[in-house]
Amino acid sequence: MKGVVLAGGLGSRLRPLTSITNKHLLPVYDRPMIYHPLGTLAGAGVKDVIVVTGGNSAGDFMRLLGDGRSLGFRCLNYAFQEREGGIAEAIGLSRAFVGDEKFVVILGDNILENPITPYIEAFSRQEGGARVLLKRVSNPRDYGVAQVENGRVVSIVEKPSDPVSDLAVIGVYMYDARAFELIETLKPSGRGELEVTDLNNAYIRMGQLEADEITGWWSDCGASIDNLLEANVRVSEIMGRERP
Ligand code: G1P
Repeated sequence: MKGVVLAGGLGSRLRPLTSITNKHLLPVYDRPMIYHPLGTLAGAGVKDVIVVTGGNSAGDFMRLLGDGRSLGFRCLNYAFQEREGGIAEAIGLSRAFVGDEKFVVILGDNILENPITPYIEAFSRQEGGARVLLKRVSNPRDYGVAQVENGRVVSIVEKPSDPVSDLAVIGVYMYDARAFELIETLKPSGRGELEVTDLNNAYIRMGQLEADEITGWWSDCGASIDNLLEANVRVSEIMGRERP
């Protein structure tokens, strides 16, 4: 399965840290933020990866990550997003790289304590469609929120003012290649972006979206300075635990 890492955006919620660099290059404990989602993909056996980025710091990703072999990848590709077109638009830029295969997307600011291997394996067995990962949170208004009925996700609402549950849809998404056709049908949201939540709702309408609730700690560490600070502390604790 191929991997897509999204590392664009303005990082406006982390200014002034992001005034002169890309959010995903900021440190989280002992390494740049993007190393963490890349490690999650490598740990799940994903060998071929594309990084979608943009803006003035795009070249820094190549200098930092190179051909990806030292990170455990067979090949690392790059795509450039010209404007703030949203997560679904960024996914669309990976089309030529992904081809007809199933693929997994991870947002470059999402850090997970536990491996995603079981979910990738479940998606490999899934006939087609899409699979999303859920985590209970105390602040669902900040995320895409899933409404679950009889164990199935029946809708996802992006950053609702009145959330129907505390189940956030985290920034790890698995799709079949039909995602690219669906992205072409999406209309920009109020903030002028193609929303990943609209893509996921398109799969729900086709009855082809599965979901797993993850175990362990997870953070969207680009969402606020406090999340970034907490992620630094948690990652240091997790790595300290794993050290012999
Ligand atoms: C994005 C998605 C949101 C999801 C979140 C997870 O939000 O739009 O649905 O819950 O990532 O990190 P963003 O952080 O880009 O605002």
